[in-house]
Amino acid sequence: MALAIDLAGRVAIVTGGGRGVGRGISERLLEAGADVVICGRNEPERLPEAGGRRACFTPADVRELDQIEAVADFTEQRFGRIDVLVNNAGGAPAAEAATASPRFHESILRLNLMAPLHFAQRANRTMQGQASGGVILFITSVSGMRPSPGTAAYGAAKAGLHSLTQTLAVEWAPKVRVVSVAAGMVRTEQSALHYGDEEGIAAVGATVPLGRIAEPEDIGDACAFAASERAAYLSGAVLLLHGGGERPAFLAAARNTKP
Ligand SMILES: NC(=O)c1ccc[n+]([C@@H]2O[C@H](COP(=O)([O-])OP(=O)(O)OC[C@H]3O[C@@H](n4cnc5c(N)ncnc54)[C@H](OP(=O)(O)O)[C@@H]3O)[C@@H](O)[C@H]2O)c1
Repeated sequence: MALAIDLAGRVAIVTGGGRGVGRGISERLLEAGADVVICGRNEPERLPEAGGRRACFTPADVRELDQIEAVADFTEQRFGRIDVLVNNAGGAPAAEAATASPRFHESILRLNLMAPLHFAQRANRTMQGQASGGVILFITSVSGMRPSPGTAAYGAAKAGLHSLTQTLAVEWAPKVRVVSVAAGMVRTEQSALHYGDEEGIAAVGATVPLGRIAEPEDIGDACAFAASERAAYLSGAVLLLHGGGERPAFLAAARNTKP
């Protein structure tokens, strides 16, 4: 048999799984055979579907502890277990660090750092009691690995998740593996807001060594792999999906440099 990613019989929660990056992740996990529960503040018009199955939705604001608990309870009542948690919900509007209010900074940290930690803690409780343990994934960003001008608190939160990935992988082993998937630019329903029309998106994509920005399914493929037995020895690590990264800015200004 060919080497395959098989998540049949596995139960996954994808926070913010109804649109954008989360939708691509949900679809790939469904395609690999998992049952998928998604949560968000609003029910998406169309639920993610793939592999002949459809994700279930339960409403939740992941910044609220009791709502995290409700998603976990819903999943356990419906499917009896939690094998995979993908902490995907997140994001931040742009704001200058010098003038953004303390309240703004706190709210960004709450969504992008505290909520994933609280959800991970809840999922770990269930996973430690399962014979096959579980896998916790954090969807992070290159913003947590390089300067993040305009989104300082967001970058700090993502860097915090990289630290948590290493620490939780040690504390919760051997039952639970913990992995971050750090994305560069991804094409979502919001891309036009950041990069303009298709021409703008293509121009931005041309700055990436692989010649395009990522599709949500690219992140989904990495998550399906990281969640599977094919990644049984992967933990405490950050998978970097940035298409080759960013060309150092100084090269454009420097003279006598080759490409
Ligand atoms: N797009 C990119 O270029 C990019 C790059 C690197 C990393 N990422 C990361 O990928 C993840 C998803 O980003 P995205 O671009 O797909 O964002 P998006 O299009 O804005 O989608 C965010 C999802 O999260 C949900 N969500 C937001 N706040 C929530 C809350 N308080 N409680 C529960 N659900 C909530 C949203 O649903 P509701 O609004 O219904 O709650 C939505 O389903 C984020 O962690 C982001 O940092 C994205």
